[in-house]
Amino acid sequence: MNLIFLGPPGVGKGTIAKEVVKQKNIPQISTGDLLRAAVKEGSELGIKAKEYMDSGKLVPDDLIINLMKEKIKEDDCQNGFILDGFPRTIPQAEALEGEIKIDKVLNFKALDKTIIQRLSGRRTCKQCGAIFHLTNIPPKVEGVCDKCQGELFQRDDDKPEAIKKRLEVYQQQTAPLIDCYNEKGILADIDTEQPIPKIISDVMKEI
Ligand code: AP5
Repeated sequence: MNLIFLGPPGVGKGTIAKEVVKQKNIPQISTGDLLRAAVKEGSELGIKAKEYMDSGKLVPDDLIINLMKEKIKEDDCQNGFILDGFPRTIPQAEALEGEIKIDKVLNFKALDKTIIQRLSGRRTCKQCGAIFHLTNIPPKVEGVCDKCQGELFQRDDDKPEAIKKRLEVYQQQTAPLIDCYNEKGILADIDTEQPIPKIISDVMKEI
């Protein structure tokens, strides 16, 4: 099953995707994670992407479209996948449509104040990528990942100015995709203003 997780930054796409991966045995393809890995490696893509990401802007379409076209052809994607963070613009959605059929788009929703609270308190494991939150989902030991004992860090784009910009960019460039997928009859809304087990169960019902 080929799925898209759509929604504003910090709504919980990554958190829920990691659970669906376990239950459905399909990979999560997070463009944000791929780009952050490229930045860490210092690759050409990473060097080009860093400035956009740190300021909360989208990376140019051509960079991300080529990356994703290659990614979905890989062997582990042949039985389905979760696209987390792609597409994010109309040209990205059009490019994807030319490549593969999408079965379902889940539109994750939350209030802006919830999103700001979630992003400001997010901490991510440097080693395994597990996602925590200082108050909502705290690690057992402060600053240390429960799963692999890796160090937890705050993303550069989870600072107030970048969060504000990311929310604006989402409204301008990504939210128009909701109508596009709704018209195709493949969109389902997911209310994330509820406990994580309930969100996972809503998602599993939809897919
Ligand atoms: P990306 O990494 O994709 O960031 P994002 O979409 O902004 O999404 P996030 O990872 O911030 O949030 P999420 O929804 O996954 O929330 P999470 O589960 O972590 O992109 C980063 C940047 O890369 C972009 O700004 C752009 O520059 C570039 N980029 C990426 N894709 C691109 C593309 N296609 N085109 C161009 N540029 C691209 O949860 C957030 C927090 O909330 C966590 O702390 C979590 O523990 C907590 N939480 C989650 N759910 C709940 C809940 N139900 N209750 C309580 N707490 C919760």
